[in-house]
Amino acid sequence: MSSFEALRDLPHREAAGRLLAEGWNVCGIGDWATVWRSPDGTQVARVSPFEPAYEVFVELCRRLEGHSLLPRVDFDAPLGGGGRLTVLEFLLPAESAEADGVVERWAAALPDDPITQVRRMAEQLDAEAAAQIPFWGGLDHNPGNVMKNVAGELKLVDLFYAAGLEIYRVLLEDPAKIAESFAPERREHICDIAALARMSSPDEMAALRTAAASIA
Ligand SMILES: Nc1ncnc2c1ncn2[C@@H]1O[C@H](COP(=O)(O)OP(=O)(O)O)[C@@H](O)[C@H]1O
Ligand SMILES: [Mg+2]
Repeated sequence: MSSFEALRDLPHREAAGRLLAEGWNVCGIGDWATVWRSPDGTQVARVSPFEPAYEVFVELCRRLEGHSLLPRVDFDAPLGGGGRLTVLEFLLPAESAEADGVVERWAAALPDDPITQVRRMAEQLDAEAAAQIPFWGGLDHNPGNVMKNVAGELKLVDLFYAAGLEIYRVLLEDPAKIAESFAPERREHICDIAALARMSSPDEMAALRTAAASIA
């Protein structure tokens, strides 16, 4: 990609379209985001249509820049309508034994283990986010969030979560509450997240779109 800066503030569909046109390929799908791998294989671009939580993870990576257990972040910017684009070093899935080992180290939090510094900072950011971000979920201890770089160094990713099930339940039952919680320009693409694309029936999609349109 000649310039990630050119993608800043684009609607997520346009940003993803440019990545596709430049030879990037989908390599990961989460609950919120679609992750695209660069043609040379060294980077990924995480494209999220509606993003309440990932900026806190990016902030963690910034505060502990160069930490061996966190990925390198090459670019991060908002996308139009409330999405987010984050460019990271490419990571591979960790073996399950490796991932479990990292989860155990996190729980043990030994003072001389570098993971303890990540845990302390993550807990601080979690507490700040819980006070500021609507529908904040917390720290995600899923071993699936342990990956490794090409050199084999274990990395923690996507450490925080927003209460997605709750957001979409409330959107259907009490859309005014979602309207109060997220500014309109932060939730234009609330119905485009990856989990809905994967798991909603056509009727559920229609109901969510109607609810979102009622507060647009
Ligand atoms: N740096 C990365 N390198 C390669 N794949 C990644 C990277 N980050 C995430 N992925 C893949 O993309 C998926 C979704 O990314 P994630 O950030 O977890 O999104 P979500 O917040 O939607 O869960 C992950 O489960 C993983 O498979
Ligand atoms: Mg994830």
